[in-house]
Amino acid sequence: MENKVIYAIASYAVVIITGFVLSKYGKPFNTLVLTAHKLLALAAVVFMVIVIREHWAVFKGDMVSVTAAVFTGIFVTAMFATGAMLSFEKPAAKIVIAVHKALPYMILVTGAAVIYLLKKHG
Ligand code: HEM
Repeated sequence: MENKVIYAIASYAVVIITGFVLSKYGKPFNTLVLTAHKLLALAAVVFMVIVIREHWAVFKGDMVSVTAAVFTGIFVTAMFATGAMLSFEKPAAKIVIAVHKALPYMILVTGAAVIYLLKKHG
């Protein structure tokens, strides 16, 4: 598999692990763990965007791939928004944590679809 895809998957795995660590120990969050969580989330996004750009000519012609990527993008945006709200000192609304807990699994599904389709179409 392409190196950048592996970096994206590895970064995403560490994001999930650090997320569980943050939740387990609660506030005040460990700065190092929270920083790793945020930066690796950003790194995973950057790697995926680069891979999609490199395959854009083929990718843009497949509506299923584009739909999967758009949904992944919407979910990731929601993760960054809810993640920022959870980082505030003031406790976040229950819906915010619920969204931040559920969407990583949706991203797993739509993100895996993007990677699968990228491989399939070369
Ligand atoms: C793709 C992006 C992200 C993913 C996949 C992700 C994933 C997760 C996961 C799986 C958890 C643990 C939830 C649980 O206990 O079930 C978590 C917790 C957390 N995440 Fe993220 N996260 C992302 C981005 C961010 C960002 C950008 C921030 C900060 C700006 C952030 C801040 C937090 C905080 C503060 C917690 C602890 C919540 C609490 O228990 O109060 N996350 N994240």
